[in-house]
Amino acid sequence: MGLPIYRTAAFAFDSAEEYEEVLAGRAPGFTYSRIDNPTAATFAGGVAWLEGAGAPGEVVGEAFASGMAAISAVMMGHLSAGDHVLCASEVYGGTWSLLSGVLSRFGVATTFADLSDPAGARAGLTDRTRLVWAETLANPSLSVADLSGLAGVAHAAGALLAVDSTFASPVICRPLEHGADLVVHSATKYLGGHSDVTGGVVVGRPDLLAPVRHMRVELGGSLAPDEAFLLHRGLATLPLRMARHSASAQALAEAMLAHPAVTAVHYPGLPGHRDHQRAMALFDSGRCGGVLSVDIAGDRAAGRAFCDRLRIGRNATSLAGTHTKVSHVASTTHRQLDDAALRAAGIGPATVRVSVGLEDVEDLIADCRQALDSLR
Ligand SMILES: Cc1ncc(COP(=O)(O)O)c(C=O)c1O
Repeated sequence: MGLPIYRTAAFAFDSAEEYEEVLAGRAPGFTYSRIDNPTAATFAGGVAWLEGAGAPGEVVGEAFASGMAAISAVMMGHLSAGDHVLCASEVYGGTWSLLSGVLSRFGVATTFADLSDPAGARAGLTDRTRLVWAETLANPSLSVADLSGLAGVAHAAGALLAVDSTFASPVICRPLEHGADLVVHSATKYLGGHSDVTGGVVVGRPDLLAPVRHMRVELGGSLAPDEAFLLHRGLATLPLRMARHSASAQALAEAMLAHPAVTAVHYPGLPGHRDHQRAMALFDSGRCGGVLSVDIAGDRAAGRAFCDRLRIGRNATSLAGTHTKVSHVASTTHRQLDDAALRAAGIGPATVRVSVGLEDVEDLIADCRQALDSLR
C-alpha cells in the first residue's frame, strides 16, 4: 500500500543495449532521477488523475522541486524572446517578479491587468500574446477567476491559458474542465498539506506538457523522491482536509464579519463577496478553500496586534497545512507595495490573511474573538 521511495540518483541496467534503449526513450524505464524518478512520477500522475477527472488518461503531470520551479518551467517551456504574457494583476508575488524581473531580461513582455471580466482581459492582448496567466483564487482578495471566459479570450488570440490553482486544489476546482490548458500547483500548500515539504506540479495534455518537461530536465528543478513520497501521501487525505478547511473557513468568515473590530471579510463563500456567484458555479459543493482575509478596523498596528494576540493562529509564512497561520499582509506577503499600490490591490493597512487549519473550529472562532475584543 505504501509508495516505495526510490532514493537513488542513478538506475542500473542488465546490458549496455537496454541502458541505451531506455535513455533514448525507445523502451520504458528510469535512468537518472533528474530526468525521471518512479516516486516523483507517481505523485505527478496522481495529481494529473485528480485534475483530469473529466478526461481520464488524457492528462499527464510533471513534478517539480517547488511551485516556482513549476511556474518557471511553464513559462520557459512555452515562451520565447518577443512573446507577450497577459497576467492577472492579482497574482502571487513570485510569479510577478519572475515575469517582471527575470523573463523581461530574456525579451518576454508582460501586461498585468484586471482579468475579472473577459472584455477587460481582451483589452490586454497584443498580437504577440502567447500565454494568459491567472489564479483560480487570488491572494489576498480571494477573487475567483472566470476560467471559461479567460480560456475563450486566450484561445481566440491563439494563446494558452495557464492557471495556478494552488489555493483551490483539484478537490474544489479542476480548471482543465473549464478550458484551461495547463494547471500549476505549489504542492507545498494543500497537496502536501502539512507544511513539511516543498514541491510543485504541472498538469495538462501530453503535447502541452512536453516543453514543460523539457525545461524540468534542462533546468533541473525536479522533485526529489523523499519529497514525492510525502506529497503523494498528502493526496490521500486531500478531500478530507479540503472539506474541513473550507467548512472552518466559512464559519470563521461568518463569525469575524459579525465582529465590530472587523470592517470587511474577503471570502468567496460569503454572499457579499464580489465573486460569490462565480464561486458557487465553479467550485464543487460550494467549498471555497481554507484561506480568507480580514480587514481589521484601524492602522497597521491594529492588524499586527490582532496577529500577535492570537493564541492558536501563528504568525507564519506560507498557507495551507494543519495549523492556522496568519500574515499581516502589508508588512509580509505584499511588503514590496507602497500605500497607493496596496490600496489599488484592495489591501488595507490592517488586512490580515488567515490560512485556516484543521483545529477545532469553535476554538478558532473563540481565539479570533478574544484577539479582536482585545483591540477595542
Ligand atoms: C499561489 C502560489 N503560487 C505559487 C507559489 C510558489 O510556490 P513555492 O513556494 O512552492 O515555490 C506560492 C507560494 O506561496 C503561491 O501562494
